[in-house]
Amino acid sequence: MQYIFILFTIRIVWTNGQSSNFPDCKSGPLSSFPICNQSLPSRQRTVDLISRMTIMEKISHMITTADTIPRLGLPKYEWWSEALHGLGYSPGVLFGGDLPAATSFPMPINLGATFNMRLVHDIANIISTEARAFNNEGRAGLTFFTPNINIFRDPRWGRGQETPGEDPFLTSQYVYALIEGLQRGDDERYLKIAANCKHFDAYDLEDWNGTNRHHFDAKVTDQDLVETYLPSFKTCIQDAQVASIMCSYNSINGIPACAHQFLLETIARESFHLNGFVVSDCGAIGNILYTHHYTSTVEDTVAVALHAGTDLECGVFYLFHLYDALNSKTIVETDIDQSLMRTFDVLIRLGWFDPPEQQIYRQLNKNNVDTLEARELSLRSAQESIVLLKNVDQVLPLNINLLKNKKIALIGPTADATVTMQGIYHGQAPFLIDPVTGFKNLTAGNFINIEHARGCEISSHNEKDFAAAIKLARSSDIVFFFGGIDHTIEREGVDRKSIDLPDIQLTLIKQLEKVARSPLHIVIMSGGGVDLSYIRDSAQCASLLWIGYPGQSGGLGLATVVFGQYNPAGRLPVTIYPASYVNEVSMFDMQMRPASNNPGRTYKFYTGKAVYEFGYGLSYTTFNYTWNNNTIISLHSIQSLIENNHSFLRTIISLIRVNVTNTGNMAGDDVVLAYVTQPNTIDNQIVPFKQLFGFERIHLAINETKEVFFPFTIEAALAVTRDGSKWLYSGFYRIFIGQQQMFSIELRGQSTRLA
Ligand SMILES: *[C@@H]1O[C@H](CO)[C@@H](O)[C@H](O)[C@H]1NC(C)=O
Ligand SMILES: *[C@@H]1O[C@H](CO)[C@@H](O)[C@H](O)[C@H]1NC(C)=O
Ligand SMILES: *[C@@H]1O[C@H](CO)[C@@H](O)[C@H](O)[C@H]1NC(C)=O
Ligand SMILES: *[C@@H]1O[C@H](CO)[C@@H](O)[C@H](O)[C@H]1NC(C)=O
Ligand SMILES: *[C@@H]1O[C@H](CO)[C@@H](O)[C@H](O)[C@H]1NC(C)=O
Ligand SMILES: *[C@@H]1O[C@H](CO)[C@@H](O)[C@H](O)[C@H]1NC(C)=O
Ligand SMILES: *[C@@H]1O[C@H](CO)[C@@H](O)[C@H](O)[C@H]1NC(C)=O
Ligand SMILES: *[C@@H]1O[C@H](CO)[C@@H](O)[C@H](O)[C@H]1NC(C)=O
Repeated sequence: MQYIFILFTIRIVWTNGQSSNFPDCKSGPLSSFPICNQSLPSRQRTVDLISRMTIMEKISHMITTADTIPRLGLPKYEWWSEALHGLGYSPGVLFGGDLPAATSFPMPINLGATFNMRLVHDIANIISTEARAFNNEGRAGLTFFTPNINIFRDPRWGRGQETPGEDPFLTSQYVYALIEGLQRGDDERYLKIAANCKHFDAYDLEDWNGTNRHHFDAKVTDQDLVETYLPSFKTCIQDAQVASIMCSYNSINGIPACAHQFLLETIARESFHLNGFVVSDCGAIGNILYTHHYTSTVEDTVAVALHAGTDLECGVFYLFHLYDALNSKTIVETDIDQSLMRTFDVLIRLGWFDPPEQQIYRQLNKNNVDTLEARELSLRSAQESIVLLKNVDQVLPLNINLLKNKKIALIGPTADATVTMQGIYHGQAPFLIDPVTGFKNLTAGNFINIEHARGCEISSHNEKDFAAAIKLARSSDIVFFFGGIDHTIEREGVDRKSIDLPDIQLTLIKQLEKVARSPLHIVIMSGGGVDLSYIRDSAQCASLLWIGYPGQSGGLGLATVVFGQYNPAGRLPVTIYPASYVNEVSMFDMQMRPASNNPGRTYKFYTGKAVYEFGYGLSYTTFNYTWNNNTIISLHSIQSLIENNHSFLRTIISLIRVNVTNTGNMAGDDVVLAYVTQPNTIDNQIVPFKQLFGFERIHLAINETKEVFFPFTIEAALAVTRDGSKWLYSGFYRIFIGQQQMFSIELRGQSTRLA
């Protein structure tokens, strides 16, 4: 989304304050109408309300900045609020007064790296609680345009940081946990808040080689659609029952997303059973006409969008042109009514028209914001997301007791990062603990000298600050370099051209290597992957940590890892490609499987050698995996597995069990990843190298063993063929736990098409 038409409305909407925040169902004109009668079915309530609205009033409610209707006692409502990783700046959210700030959690790319979906659920629960507190004071709406669940297809994508990574299974697990935490709280009668899964669909390009998202036509095969671009939306809509989805700026195979009847009606509504509304990305209806040139008149544009099922517009195209479309008869009034039914239904489910006394969510207030629990959870999620990539001779963690009177240099452009730690789509945090502050905090009272020198900017060519940094490094016992990238080169609207670490940073690292008394420690802040092969291979770099954009307590979380108060267990949620990757495949190429001019995408299909693989991450301790028999071949008949069972997709073929033992000398978490490699198919298509079907993050004390379970279901075994159908093939399925092959399962019988 971008703030094109809407910014000017922020003040207008919210200066009215609390009094007009909710409809007056006690004494206002609405109070005697069915809309305010809780005992009536939702449909009856909305039908009646809509029947009382004039056509112009209806039109004014077809856009996200819905106008007041004083005649009916209906207040203004701003549909557009943001909460990607904490309440975020947006037209509906206003920080100030009693509520100057909200908890800022790490970016979703970090949450992907935690592989901890209970954590994701708990974070979402706090976000929705804070959202309700803001809403009760007229400082936020109840409808949030979050999360972003597009697949992080290409490392150049500027908004990949908003997602949990490149894997459809991980993204599906993430979105389920997240939507549960956002929408479902203690009161089952009401939505806690309404979430929005975006951007539907195949949106993962901002601006590359002269074509931006407003003009881009994503060419997607049926196979990639079913295998990669739809699963997270399926889980979001069908399983988590999100209250809304957003159609995207781009076209898909020649049809603009907000005019895409097949995707919006056939897939989202009929197949996934969307129970809620479709909102356009901001300005995306105008795109149908002005950038995609899919239509040639405003009337037809309104008609294709509305008939495809785009119920609500972020923008003003509907506001200006719905009436023209009615006049020209490209639409009829009941088309508008149908959309309003869907949007008002969500407000009813949010309890907007119901008495506040009996709604626990309406009692939440400033005491429920920025709580101690929320602060701890933000810190813990930063800790859990940090990925240790290199640690020569267990140089980390540093032992504070051995550092008395020593000097530690913190050099580099992200050492004192504050707002940068919040990534994009952020809000006002209550505080921001940068790495320098975090290091000082943890070492306080231990006579350790922590000094900071910036050295260089993220990506300029100016070496004027090198000298001071080198002087500091020379006089220090331990040198950290804090590099990476930031919103100046990866953000909404901006894709990277290069995935190298910016030149200036590598130049400085090489100079620091020459003067430092001991090998360097490197910390990388970034959302998208950066080629880290120089650091990986350099003998003068002792350790390497990736910290994503770790939120309000990111610097403290990092320091606890460095000094061993927290044992890192994050795993990369993306493949780290070599820098040459960007020359090997066009950003426009949506295909996942390798082909000429495409080395393949993500851990499933990339045929080159990754710098660091998806799922990679070290610990300060060691883990050993054992299972009962590593040569077991279990045999199943396909026909007996699927016979007479309507929920056969969830049918368990084999329950994978593995014992994990902490065999090192520090307590810590392990992320256990379960993959399957499918048999080769009869039509000779490329099968994924492997495919994640389960993961579990567990904590193990020294010497402790825990057994983890991964149900290997029919769904996990299914292969997607060229035409987008799903098949259960006969043959051998190899199961991997982490990197280790565990055992094989053989399915015999007739290969069968199941979906
Ligand atoms: C609400 O609807 C119920 C069911 O139709 C009806 O019995 C009741 O009188 C209505 N209440 C009000 C205040 O109109
Ligand atoms: C360290 O950080 C914690 C948590 O933010 C804070 O309570 C404590 O006062 C800090 N200590 C120092 C010495 O800065
Ligand atoms: C990028 O744009 C240039 C100039 O239009 C064109 O020659 C080139 O083929 C494009 N590259 C890709 C990968 O699309
Ligand atoms: C892991 O456990 C297996 C089976 O008990 C044992 O043979 C192996 O030596 C262990 N490996 C390590 C590194 O402890
Ligand atoms: C794990 O260890 C327990 C206790 O030793 C044992 O009963 C169980 O069978 C083991 N499970 C596997 C999968 O090896
Ligand atoms: C382990 O697998 C082999 C090969 O399938 C089999 O012969 C053996 O009986 C199995 N052992 C156990 C304990 O299940
Ligand atoms: C159908 O599959 C489900 C999910 O695996 C299972 O719980 C159920 O027992 C099966 N029913 C029959 C009749 O096999
Ligand atoms: C872990 O097990 C080893 C070998 O049995 C033992 O020597 C050590 O004391 C144990 N450590 C702890 C903390 O239990």
